[in-house]
Amino acid sequence: MTTLKRLSFLSLLQLCVLATQDVQLAQRAATPDDCAGYNARNVHQTAHSLTADLVLAGACALYGEDIPNLKLTVSYEDSSRLHVKIADAAGKRYQVPESVFPRPKSANLLAVQSELEFKYKTAPFSFQVIRKADKEVLFDTTGHALVFEQQYIRLQTSLPPSANIYGLGEHTNTFRLPSNNFTRTFWNRDAYGVAEGTNLYSTHPIYFEHRTTGTHGVFLLNSNGIDVKINQVNGKTALEYNAIGGIFDFYFLSGSKKDPSEVSRQYAKVAGLPAEVPYWGFGFHQCRYGYQNFVEVADVVANYSKAGIPLETMWTDIDYMKDRWVFTNDPQYFPTNRVQEIIHYLHAHDQHYIVMVDPAVAAQPNKGYGAYDNGVKDGIFLKGSDGNLFHGVVWPGVTVYPDWFNPKTQSYWTNEFKTFFDPKSGWDIDGLWIDMNEAASFCPYPCDPEATAASGGFPPNRTTPPPDPNAPIFTDVKRSAMPLPESVYTDVEIVEREDVSIDARAPAINASLNYLEPPYAIANAAGALSASTVYTDAVHSNGLIEYDVHNLYGTMMSIASQKAMEARRPGLRTLIITRSTFAGAGAKVGKWLGDNLSTWWHYRNSVAGVLGFNAIYQVPMVGPDTCGFGADTTEFLCSRWATLGAFYPFYRNHNQDGQRPQEFYRWPLVTAAAKNALDIRYRLLDYFNTALHAQTVDGSPSWNPLFFKYPADKNTWGIDTQFFFGDSILVSPVVEENSTSVTFYLPKDKFYDFKTFAPIEGKGANVTLNDVAFTDIPVYIRGGTVLPLRAKSAMTTTALRKNDFQIVVAPAADGTASGKLYVDDGVSLKQKATTEVSFKYAKGRLTVTGHFGYKLGVKISSVTVLGVKSSGPYKLDGKAVAKTSVAVNAASQSVDVKIGIPFTKPFTLSVA
Ligand code: NOJ
Repeated sequence: MTTLKRLSFLSLLQLCVLATQDVQLAQRAATPDDCAGYNARNVHQTAHSLTADLVLAGACALYGEDIPNLKLTVSYEDSSRLHVKIADAAGKRYQVPESVFPRPKSANLLAVQSELEFKYKTAPFSFQVIRKADKEVLFDTTGHALVFEQQYIRLQTSLPPSANIYGLGEHTNTFRLPSNNFTRTFWNRDAYGVAEGTNLYSTHPIYFEHRTTGTHGVFLLNSNGIDVKINQVNGKTALEYNAIGGIFDFYFLSGSKKDPSEVSRQYAKVAGLPAEVPYWGFGFHQCRYGYQNFVEVADVVANYSKAGIPLETMWTDIDYMKDRWVFTNDPQYFPTNRVQEIIHYLHAHDQHYIVMVDPAVAAQPNKGYGAYDNGVKDGIFLKGSDGNLFHGVVWPGVTVYPDWFNPKTQSYWTNEFKTFFDPKSGWDIDGLWIDMNEAASFCPYPCDPEATAASGGFPPNRTTPPPDPNAPIFTDVKRSAMPLPESVYTDVEIVEREDVSIDARAPAINASLNYLEPPYAIANAAGALSASTVYTDAVHSNGLIEYDVHNLYGTMMSIASQKAMEARRPGLRTLIITRSTFAGAGAKVGKWLGDNLSTWWHYRNSVAGVLGFNAIYQVPMVGPDTCGFGADTTEFLCSRWATLGAFYPFYRNHNQDGQRPQEFYRWPLVTAAAKNALDIRYRLLDYFNTALHAQTVDGSPSWNPLFFKYPADKNTWGIDTQFFFGDSILVSPVVEENSTSVTFYLPKDKFYDFKTFAPIEGKGANVTLNDVAFTDIPVYIRGGTVLPLRAKSAMTTTALRKNDFQIVVAPAADGTASGKLYVDDGVSLKQKATTEVSFKYAKGRLTVTGHFGYKLGVKISSVTVLGVKSSGPYKLDGKAVAKTSVAVNAASQSVDVKIGIPFTKPFTLSVA
């Protein structure tokens, strides 16, 4: 063929292609609602389930090929949970692997036993989920075509106007989401500055919806990129899922009419109960990016103690690494022997140490770099679509990424931990910080790793000279008195990850699909799907494509790291804090809220962030960077934040490299604020530990939005700068910049000021407090509560546990109160003995019952009854308490009864 002929042949071919495209375009629907949807055929209804074939009713082809045949499966998993699955009929499409998200157990109930009803129409197919008790339609796809294409699936529900929707994180929007013109995108991303309205580090496609009739939940188990759009359409709220892969795998949770936290418990059954954390994890943590060397780290520890501010755990960021290579340390700046000295000092003082580990391993062949060489030998690094190692760019420069789906990765990871964090020869860390696991890369798209790395800054040069290797640290401690600890390693059997059914169903790569730039572009704030992350056409060792599993990377690293940490210290709980999570991650790890900034907006917004993770996503151990990560903090902001931080489940001060130092001891005002707030936190620590323990048992939130406690009070529905710490401690921080006054909502209920114990009548109205010192934070006890407080605070949580209890009875308007206390050894995964106490107060009588298996070794020094003035006689187990032991405080209307009895058995205390 001559060149000319070949050209004309090609043009002809192109014309044909264009013509075919035109035909397709002509058939293509303009919007999802123009699509014909599917018709239900062969509906097969049994007493337990419903199945149907869904057959394409007409071409839609909005973003590619339609999948003509689908399968609908409806099952009644328990009385409150309905499982609705719409998948390809062949069952070949990607579904979230069970190894990452174990499916909840199904009781396989009869439809009639369910609180929910599944109602459907056949042509076109649509469905409603109805709560039987009140006939409330919770979900309704009527009038909205189901679209199911290779790389675009869409389903829409109509909800009441301006629906109250919470969840769908991670985001920095308001806790109650906007109900119009709003898109929530799920695509885990390194999100410096955590901008409002953008996709952040985590994916939790669960929402709770609150109505006057009750609160229910809807969870979509799908790990692909998703845009959830919320709009007002024809007087209703339209909530639309637009996912670029996977299936519609819905769990509908019936919730409750009276108690919104019922949905949290129902969701915990699906996502998994959260992990118990060590008691010391609730202590105060100090961290920063940019501690230059071991001397600086030791100085911070010493300065906290000199300032008299309790420091429980010291952290070190990537600064310790040699050239930012994970599982290495810089021998000049962070020599192992000197770091060991710090760790021994911390341990000798009942303090703890945590460092960061990133997933990306420096691609440094032939350098004797174990973490790289071992990974290459084991073949555990992720490969690109060309079959070669995938390269990105992280702190050390060009990097490779562990493929968590490779069955050998767990033993690789466990061994790297075992070697580098060997307590005798290495770094004996107590907990772990994992970061950059979205997975993050600094490489823009398209990525040229070598060029990006060469563009400079990877790894950054050290800006300070190395310290004197013999520099004295902790000069008050004799170094010879600090022997190396015995190794706590036992020979641990490393269990390879089991492959389970859904993993094995990795679909083959479909050459006709575009895994890098799919036709429907989700609103990823980073741009292309593969921008600043691993390429989405990379193929995992089990055949899964990064396109489908991107959002699981952080959770898979969490699972592997939790196993590695448990292998280091078998039998002990571990504190692991991650940046990226997927639904269910709370069963393994806690989470910090990423790179916020030192602004008043970020300070305020942190409350909504913590509420989402604790009360909705079941990742209860959560907190932001207190005092702010990026940008310089100020004395006033850091003071306020130190006081608010004392009420986060996870309380850590963390700061960015190059920003103004912000350890609490840097300013007298912040020092005082931190001391004051830590004093309250530590006295409340057993109360909060009890709440978090309860969450690990049944998912009841340990941090509550106001509407969870006052669901009928509409004024509470949108509040997200106040919260309940546990069930009963109402915290209402000052929220305005540099202000000393705060206006907050006090529901119609009885409260007591935590500081003075004075009663306060909530009127269901705003209250303004002026003159709230920068060292202070308004904290109220909700009437109806018995609080087990430690009588005084301490410098460490170990010391705290040796302090006596003060039981505070704060009766409700009807004169009753109740509370609970759970205590165990605080560290073991399996407890030999626990103490679980129940407090009941009614008609002037406090009854304390329960079992006292774990020996607390302390007393109840006093019982303080609020809202009473009676000087008695008080009777302890029927015997009068000496008058001299009863102190009436007329100003606060409270009575303190010194009883001083060992906390080992039930008792009653009554006022005649
Ligand atoms: C990003 C993390 O979000 C931040 O907390 C950390 O300090 C830096 N990486 C450096 O490791």
